Amino acid sequence: MLYALPALAVSDLGGRFALIDQHGVDVTEENYRGKPALLYFGFSSCGDVCPTDLVKMGFVVEQLVSTAGIEITPIFVTIDPERDTPERMAAYLTAFHPDFVGLTGSDEAIADIADKYAVYYAPLPMGNSYMMDHSTLLFLIDANGDYVAHFTRDVPVNELTQSIIKKLSAP
Ligand code: NI
Repeated sequence: MLYALPALAVSDLGGRFALIDQHGVDVTEENYRGKPALLYFGFSSCGDVCPTDLVKMGFVVEQLVSTAGIEITPIFVTIDPERDTPERMAAYLTAFHPDFVGLTGSDEAIADIADKYAVYYAPLPMGNSYMMDHSTLLFLIDANGDYVAHFTRDVPVNELTQSIIKKLSAP
C-alpha cells in the first residue's frame, strides 16, 4: 500500500548522506553499496512502534536469506540524535538483529536524510522529557543505494519478504 508522500515525488526519494554509525565511524551511503538495504527512521526511546518494527525487520532479514538467498542490510536512522549517541544505538540494536546498522549524526545531517526520504518527525513534550512523533515507513534501497519502494507498517512479515523479493528481481 502506498502512503501519499508530501512534497517529494517518489522518484526523487533517497540520496547521499553523511552520518555516524553505532561504532562512531563516519559513513556515507557508499558504505552500504553492494547489498540492498532496508531503511527505517525512529528513536531508541520509542516505547512500542519502533521496537515492533525493528523486530519485524530482523525477521525479514532472516527470511530473505533463507527463502531467496538475499542478503540485505537493516539500517535504523535515529530522528532523536540528541539522545541517540552511537553508544546508545549500539546497545539498543543488539536486541534486534546482529546485522543492524544504527545511524546518528548532527541535527542538520539527520534533517537532511529525513528530508531526502520525506520522513516527518517532531518532538512531543512529555512531563520533563519528550517523545518523538515520526513517520513509520520502511524503505527498500537497492545495491546501488537507490530507492526502490516503501512499505507501511501494516504489511505482515511474510508478505513484506515476498514483496521485497519481487521488487528486487524486477527488471
Ligand atoms: Ni518509534
